[in-house]
Amino acid sequence: MQTLENKVAVITGAGSGIGEGIARAAAAAGMQVVVADIDLASAQRVADSIGEQAMACYVDVTQLDSVEAMRDAALHHFGAVHLLCNNAGVWIGALMVEADIKDWQFLVNVNLFGVIHGIKAFLPLLVEQGEGHIVNTASMGGLISGPPEGLYTTTKFAVVGLSESLLMEVADKGVGVSVLCPGLVDTNLTTKSFEVRPAQFDPGVRHDQPAPDTASGLSPLAVGERVVDAVREGEFYIITHDDYRDIIAMRHQGIIDALDAHARRYGSTSGRDTQ
Ligand SMILES: NC(=O)c1ccc[n+]([C@@H]2O[C@H](COP(=O)([O-])OP(=O)(O)OC[C@H]3O[C@@H](n4cnc5c(N)ncnc54)[C@H](O)[C@@H]3O)[C@@H](O)[C@H]2O)c1
Repeated sequence: MQTLENKVAVITGAGSGIGEGIARAAAAAGMQVVVADIDLASAQRVADSIGEQAMACYVDVTQLDSVEAMRDAALHHFGAVHLLCNNAGVWIGALMVEADIKDWQFLVNVNLFGVIHGIKAFLPLLVEQGEGHIVNTASMGGLISGPPEGLYTTTKFAVVGLSESLLMEVADKGVGVSVLCPGLVDTNLTTKSFEVRPAQFDPGVRHDQPAPDTASGLSPLAVGERVVDAVREGEFYIITHDDYRDIIAMRHQGIIDALDAHARRYGSTSGRDTQ
């Protein structure tokens, strides 16, 4: 989507952190922005500081009807939607051996169903208008994994897979897709994730592992500007940190090595034989 001026962006989780950075960068590029968050007061503060081209909106991305209501509010206020950023997310650091099922449910509901609900509510609209772009926020934890990030990376790998498939599905329909995979960004992620956790997903006993030092990370505005550039340029993978190159290469080499080992041991196989 090369021209962003006067187009409309809807950004979830925009009351704080990366979403706020995307909202500010999109507004600076001349877009009208819906600043959506489960924390309406934060969304309102961000929208007020951007000015008239922004509107605050409550959304709970774990609920499809709430995401649909956000879409309808955006259409009512601005008349169209061109860019959807499925960005709202939460973090828990826990070892799988200790994690409660409620930890899993909370993360999957926000990080994965949040994106699914965005696709469900907005994709038909974008396809019908033959113009638009969807940015799904995954993480570097959607490309590489390791404890104590197992629960989190499960959701983020899913967002990467969903986005890769979506890219292929809508490639000829005028709709662009990107997946944002940042490393550490200086946001409120590790504290906000506790604040927004509904009581029914609180396991009572916690086994939290040390949180990542997000304060040492990139500025959210720099990430937002990177996202806006990627939407303009139609880039799929939005990478903001170069320091994970070796680990990604090792992971991919491990898969290639397994393919080679298979071929050596069993010969070349294809189709049904590989099931
Ligand atoms: N901060 C990092 O280092 C980092 C790195 C990689 C990926 N990410 C991802 O970036 C995204 C944004 O996180 P952030 O780091 O800016 O954290 P943040 O906590 O500063 O912002 C996330 C926002 O999402 C909102 N939110 C949470 N649950 C919601 C729900 N159910 N419905 C609507 N809004 C909800 C929160 O209120 C908050 O305002 C997340 O998907 C996160 O996983 C963050």
